[in-house]
Amino acid sequence: MAEIPSSKRASNIEYAIRDVVVPATELESQGHSIIKLNIGDPIAYPGLPTPSHMVDAFSKALSEGRNGYSPSYGLPELRTAIAQDETRKGWNAQPKDVYVCHGVTEALQIVFQATLEEGHQVLAPGPHYPPYMAYPQMYGAETIEYELKSNDGWTLNFEDIESKMNDDVRLFVLINPNNPTGSVAGSSDIDRLLSILEKWPNCILIADEIYDGLDFSGRHVSAASLSHTVPVLTMNGVSKVYYAPGWRIGYMAIHDPILSLVSVRDGLERILRSRLCASTPAQIGFLAGLEQDRSWMKQYSETVKERRDVCLSRIAEIEGLEVQNPEGAFYMFVKLTDERWSNDDKAFVLQLLHEQHVLVVHGSGFSSEKGKGHFRLVFLPDVETLNIAFDRIDTFLQKHRILYTKTAKY
Ligand SMILES: Cc1ncc(COP(=O)(O)O)c(C=O)c1O
Repeated sequence: MAEIPSSKRASNIEYAIRDVVVPATELESQGHSIIKLNIGDPIAYPGLPTPSHMVDAFSKALSEGRNGYSPSYGLPELRTAIAQDETRKGWNAQPKDVYVCHGVTEALQIVFQATLEEGHQVLAPGPHYPPYMAYPQMYGAETIEYELKSNDGWTLNFEDIESKMNDDVRLFVLINPNNPTGSVAGSSDIDRLLSILEKWPNCILIADEIYDGLDFSGRHVSAASLSHTVPVLTMNGVSKVYYAPGWRIGYMAIHDPILSLVSVRDGLERILRSRLCASTPAQIGFLAGLEQDRSWMKQYSETVKERRDVCLSRIAEIEGLEVQNPEGAFYMFVKLTDERWSNDDKAFVLQLLHEQHVLVVHGSGFSSEKGKGHFRLVFLPDVETLNIAFDRIDTFLQKHRILYTKTAKY
């Protein structure tokens, strides 16, 4: 029987972070237990549960029957609380500027739908979180990477950015703190970026700040709070800093300092209405997170930072690995310095998985050019698990170094 083809759009989609789960699941089905350092989901690791007052508010909403649709742009009380939170971060956000979505992921899809046409470009950091490459092409646009400097803390390369700006660049993506590198752009970086972007009136800055509460540098600042001329769409939500990724609640907040987004806003609102709304009880759970005590966050960040420090000190001792210190989020982007792996990070990931049952993500999945020779590691597991994982990575590297030098290559 003839097969019915899927669309080209769908067959072009790759999501490295979950693609490597397929062989891991197969090993698990054969009875092996895998140390998973691949998915940025804090709930998958011990000691970082969703705060109970948020869970209680969500479950109370369910039991009180708040199970209907919400308004398409989000519950008014949640939009108000988010606007207050963004205002606290330094810009004048109003509830009408906030649109609640099923995670930042849905917000991004809606932004791409509302702004991109055939021939448009999106400038995104290389390496970057994969959907920034995967989705724009569905709308006929192309994602071009600007360089994050791999030997300089993965900081922005402004010369590269400047050389790639043109009238077709409709969206510029800043992920801050960054996934997968953990780098943080401070106010002087963002000021310099804004001074480039303001020369290009067709361009909107997407400020993906979903990890903003996981900033170990103290330098993180909201991009919207610094912009007086460039329109900014701030992305954030409940997944990372509020430790509830499975709730699928996030938002975009529009900062439109020179009123250039009137028609984009209309487009966004039309799409938002056509997809009905985000989950009502989950929005109530997020509201509790925003309105109630947030002192718990400090302890959570301390725990994450301690786990980062363990990884840094282990990597410093292991031959074959190098890393730039991540200043935020919960990822590190580790360089493979052995010749055997520096040109084949995917082989490293798959062989490490099969031989040592440790799962990380290949760097080339975050950028074929700028991520190759690296892997991304999530530093959320407890210290004991991290130490076991590093012991196994070390054993693996040593074994293959010996094999490689014996045979020159294999
Ligand atoms: C930079 C970045 N943006 C967005 C997301 C997804 O956010 P959400 O869970 O709100 O869809 C992730 C998830 O890993 C991410 O790393």
